[in-house]
Amino acid sequence: MRVLGINAIFHDPAAALIVDGQVVAAAEEERFSRRKHGKRPVPFAAWELPDLAAAWCLHEAGLRPGDLDAVAYSFDPGLGRDAATLGLDDPSDHLRLDYARRAPQFLAAALPGLDPDQVRFVPHHVAHAASAGLSVPEDNAVLVLDGRGEVASHLGGVYRDGRLEVLRSQELPHSLGLLYEDLTRHLGFLHSSDEYKVMALASYGTPRFLGLLRDLVRTTGDGGFTVERVDWDALAKARASDGQLTDAHADLAASVQVRLEEVMLDLARWTYDAAGGPKTLTMAGGTALNCVANARIAAEGPFDRVWVQPAAGDSGTALGAALAICEDRVEPFTTAALGRGWSDGELEAELRRAALPYTRPESIAAEAARVLAGNGIVAWYQGRSEYGPRALGHRSLLAHPGDRHTQTRMNDVKGREQFRPIAPMVRAERFAEIFDGVYPSPYMLFVHRVKTEWKDRIPAVTHVDGTARVQTVHAETEPAVAALLAEFERLTGLPVVVNTSLNTAGRPMVDTPREAMELFGSAPVDLLALGPFAVHRATAFGGGR
Ligand SMILES: [Fe+2]
Repeated sequence: MRVLGINAIFHDPAAALIVDGQVVAAAEEERFSRRKHGKRPVPFAAWELPDLAAAWCLHEAGLRPGDLDAVAYSFDPGLGRDAATLGLDDPSDHLRLDYARRAPQFLAAALPGLDPDQVRFVPHHVAHAASAGLSVPEDNAVLVLDGRGEVASHLGGVYRDGRLEVLRSQELPHSLGLLYEDLTRHLGFLHSSDEYKVMALASYGTPRFLGLLRDLVRTTGDGGFTVERVDWDALAKARASDGQLTDAHADLAASVQVRLEEVMLDLARWTYDAAGGPKTLTMAGGTALNCVANARIAAEGPFDRVWVQPAAGDSGTALGAALAICEDRVEPFTTAALGRGWSDGELEAELRRAALPYTRPESIAAEAARVLAGNGIVAWYQGRSEYGPRALGHRSLLAHPGDRHTQTRMNDVKGREQFRPIAPMVRAERFAEIFDGVYPSPYMLFVHRVKTEWKDRIPAVTHVDGTARVQTVHAETEPAVAALLAEFERLTGLPVVVNTSLNTAGRPMVDTPREAMELFGSAPVDLLALGPFAVHRATAFGGGR
């Protein structure tokens, strides 16, 4: 069965393709259009489809639109209700429903040859749930939390033999995702985009408003929750986007963050009991990108294993919608590297076209490790790009973890706020010696504690609260990055490298080789490792390291 999944309703438009139970391709529209998050989540943008990502998915599989058996759209307008009756202040929301109803015609126009009758609507949270629950082989409890779907912001359920039973959902306006978005806006960041900055800011604060938030945000004892209106201004002054961040802002962020963790933990426990105590919890929805909360659920919750979909935000519903209606048995999820890739020949042709001086070293991993050991910055472009918001060693910017100044330097290169932490990747076999917490962690969806004796050895990746958001690198699934880490360890004694996404401020992650070369040309990066090819700054532009 050939199923194309589409997310287009709110933000992070994306497409995914499953052929005979294999996830062949999955990618976000922003990587093609170069518009961060694809579009802003306003109702009249709902008609904008992931045209480029969808066309690429088909191309990747050598299919034409007419070859598809079904298209799964991750929102069901038939479930929608008037925004006012949902308690939402969104007078244009009906446009969203109108556009969603017309999605079959819009899709047929974007993908000539597609029969609009092939398009099936999948409830938004069922799509999120499937992206997680059908990605692991075993039965599992599933918890979905986001800003909103059609009428809800949450789903608690259980997958048995690949079938979803919904145990509970929480209707709007109560929404943990919208609460966090409101806070993000209040703190002067871009909502539906910068929530992870609030999470980072929270670790600098004291949760002194926690008592009040416990009154305003409550679980109901039956798997649901309520969120009362928060008078943000009474707690900390609204901040303009260029305004100063104060202790009050950090304290507010800390308070909401801790309350979110408590509520998520409660919901996870309820779902465990209601589901009959399965060993595994899977999670999706934008709120499941909160890796501090995820780590708490893993540590304090009743489950043996917590698995979070790496594309937990709405982009992942493209894959989830396709999984939800796919009738074939689907292989478990083993890699987020589902986006575009280029052959060595294509990469070399691009380098020639750009007239960049390059070499093909015996081992690009060893070459990169040498530059990193000398405290250089490496743009690491290998294989297929990642589906979801994290760079996982395919479109990554790498640096030395042992230098205190690395964080400032990386945040400067990327034009990021200085309070934001940078994360480590670690050789799987050395993880337990250095970190405490969820293992394996191949998708960076949990925070871990850095063991005391290691804090001074890897200061660049040790956050102010003593944590790090670790990616464990396993040689079976990521041989190139594993080889780089092994060589870096041989040179420095550290089995850890700093890993951030390969992009500069406000721009989507690099996807094409040309974008990688542009970034290399415009940022102080010492080595571009483009597939097996090496471009050194000193050779390309003179000077540098
Ligand atoms: Fe969502």
